[in-house]
Amino acid sequence: MQYVTLEGYSTAALFMGIGWSMLARPLLSRIDSERAHGLAIRSLSGFGQTSAGIRALNTLYQSPELPTHVFGRLFRHPLGLAAGMDKDASALSAWPALGFSWVEYGGITRFPQEGNPKPRMFRADAEQALVNSMGFNNPGASSIRDQLIRRRSAGKWPNVPVAANIGRSKKVDNSQAPSDYSATLETLWDHADFFVLNISSPNTPGLRDLHEESSLSSVLRACNSVREMKGGGKQILLKLSPDASDEDLVSTSEEALKNGVDGIVATNTTLKRPIPKNTKSRHAFAQNGGVSGRPLQSRSLDVVSMLYESTDGKVPIVGVGGIDSADSAWNSVTSGASLLQLYSALVFKGPSVVSNIVRGLRSRVRENGFSSIDEAVGYNNA
Ligand SMILES: Cc1cc2nc3c(=O)[nH]c(=O)nc-3n(C[C@H](O)[C@H](O)[C@H](O)COP(=O)(O)O)c2cc1C
Repeated sequence: MQYVTLEGYSTAALFMGIGWSMLARPLLSRIDSERAHGLAIRSLSGFGQTSAGIRALNTLYQSPELPTHVFGRLFRHPLGLAAGMDKDASALSAWPALGFSWVEYGGITRFPQEGNPKPRMFRADAEQALVNSMGFNNPGASSIRDQLIRRRSAGKWPNVPVAANIGRSKKVDNSQAPSDYSATLETLWDHADFFVLNISSPNTPGLRDLHEESSLSSVLRACNSVREMKGGGKQILLKLSPDASDEDLVSTSEEALKNGVDGIVATNTTLKRPIPKNTKSRHAFAQNGGVSGRPLQSRSLDVVSMLYESTDGKVPIVGVGGIDSADSAWNSVTSGASLLQLYSALVFKGPSVVSNIVRGLRSRVRENGFSSIDEAVGYNNA
């Protein structure tokens, strides 16, 4: 088990005894957010290395069953870990032990990259929001593939569905996006159950222009060629921006479906800023980058609802953005989300947020007379 000492505390012990929310605040609020995040991931990755560590996390954080079938796969419940938390897939085994039913690692790019200059992650505690301008810092697709091969051969592959989040390398422009995305897809093909093409991070210049139909269809055609070459059988999802207009989101999703996309992830972070409640938040919101967490909740929900309607509920939607309670999760499901993800709530509320949400969803399924969560999907839009 790996212990990282900080100000006299073992972060591993903090995970066990006090949880992530205390790890992130107030103890770590005095150090840079990205460093705090790095310490947390290293601790988790340490726990994930041993069966005793996994068992310990499981005992504390196990979530109940609320099974659902999506993409032809069984998920123990709908709530997974959003992209960006485990960027280099180093803590993959630990997430199911924290209660998540599925995991998305990445974003991964074809070429290794440093990301944007630090500091690039800020907390606005009063709004329960994060601002980040990470810029796809990652060791590149080949290095991730090699690490995942080692993980699998060591018997440390998690027993839940795993998705890979793929971004465009910063050093290529959008004209080369088709070959860039498809090369990463090919490299990672054997190392995820399904894939999320991220065209919606605000931190890579020009990336969001890929919502435009002709650019998007070129990227998707290139990725479909890889899928055909590999014999198919794995889904490709598209992750959208909350800042595109409703009209553009509808046409982007139509184009995506025409080109064989199997699901939509709604949404990535937003460039919009709420009115800051205090000086710390004013400082955070003055930084470049995307806002996640509570301020994103209502726009993400609207996008889920709108796309569920515009696609007649035929395409699975992953609801993500400000999900931090059973209520916000239930709203997303009844608006049309088949699966859910969170990131920011883990930072502000700690790992127990996962089982609390799933427990709350189970109660709501029962209270509303549904026999499974699948029946509740899009119920408000029916
Ligand atoms: C620090 C940070 C890094 C992120 N990196 C990625 C990424 O690499 N790819 C991606 O698709 N989304 C990324 N996201 C967005 C999240 O996956 C998610 O869509 C967003 O944070 C909204 O969910 P939340 O409100 O639960 O945090 C990142 C978010 C944060 C806060």
